[in-house]
Amino acid sequence: MKGVVLAGGSGSRLFPITRVTNKHLLPVYDKPMVYYPIQTLVNAGIREILLVTGGKNAGDFLRLLGNGKHFGLKHLNYTYQEGEGGIAEALGLAEDFAEGDTICVILGDNIIETNICSAVENFKKQERGGKILLKEVSDAERFGVAEIRENQVIGIEEKPHVPKSNHAVIGIYLYDPTVFEKIHRLKPSGRGELEITDVNNFYIEEGTLTCEKLHGWWTDAGTFESLLRANNLVAKTGANKMTETNDSAAVMSMEATR
Ligand code: G1P
Repeated sequence: MKGVVLAGGSGSRLFPITRVTNKHLLPVYDKPMVYYPIQTLVNAGIREILLVTGGKNAGDFLRLLGNGKHFGLKHLNYTYQEGEGGIAEALGLAEDFAEGDTICVILGDNIIETNICSAVENFKKQERGGKILLKEVSDAERFGVAEIRENQVIGIEEKPHVPKSNHAVIGIYLYDPTVFEKIHRLKPSGRGELEITDVNNFYIEEGTLTCEKLHGWWTDAGTFESLLRANNLVAKTGANKMTETNDSAAVMSMEATR
C-alpha cells in the first residue's frame, strides 16, 4: 500500500494567515501541520508516500521535508496541483505514483490522536473497494456526512445544511486501484471542484465501501476554530500515539453495501 498526503488548496478559510504561506506549513503546537498526516501514514507502516501540493509555496515543502529523513523515510515523492480543482482532482495526480497498488489518502490538515493501523490491516483483507473512517461530531454540517441505515453507509452528503447523521467522514480514505477510473468519471460540483465525497458515493453504488469508526480524537485544522482546537489537543494529549485509547479495542466495523 502506498500513501498520499493532499496538501494543496488556497487555505482561504484562514486568510490572512495563509496569504503568504500554505495552510499545511502553519504550526500546530510544536510542528508544522503537514508533519502529523505524514506521521499517521508512517505509523501505519506505509513507506512510499507522495505529497501533492500547489500554489506559490510548494518549494517550501521540499525545504521542510526533504527526503523524509525526519520520519525515517529514505525518499519522499512530490507532485504539483495546478489551480484548485478539489480534493479528488489532487488525488488524480497520484495515478502514476500508485502504479496499480492500493492507496491510503490523508488530507494534510487532518490530525488524529492515535493511529489507523487496524483500519489499514482490515482494508488489506478486503478484496476490493474502499474504506472510510467515521467520527461522531457536533458540527457535522462542516463535513462529508454519512447516512447510516442498519449499520450500513447508504450515502454521503458533502456539507449538508441538514445532516442526516452526526457521523463525519474524516479525511483518511483507503482505496483500491479503481479509484482513478472513478475520478475520471467525476463532474465538478456546485463549487466547481471534483469532490472526494462523489468518489466515495461511487464505491457505495457498487457496494464496495466499508467503514470503521475512528477512536481517539480527530480534528481538521482548516478554520480558525479547528486550528485552535488542533493546537490545544496536540498540546494537551499529543497526536499519533501508537497505543490506542481505552475503547479502541471496540472498533466497530460497518459494511456499506447497496
Ligand atoms: C473535506 C472533505 C469532507 C471531509 C473533510 C474532513 O472537506 O470534502 O468530506 O469531511 O475534508 O476534514 P474540507 O475540509 O476540504 O472542506
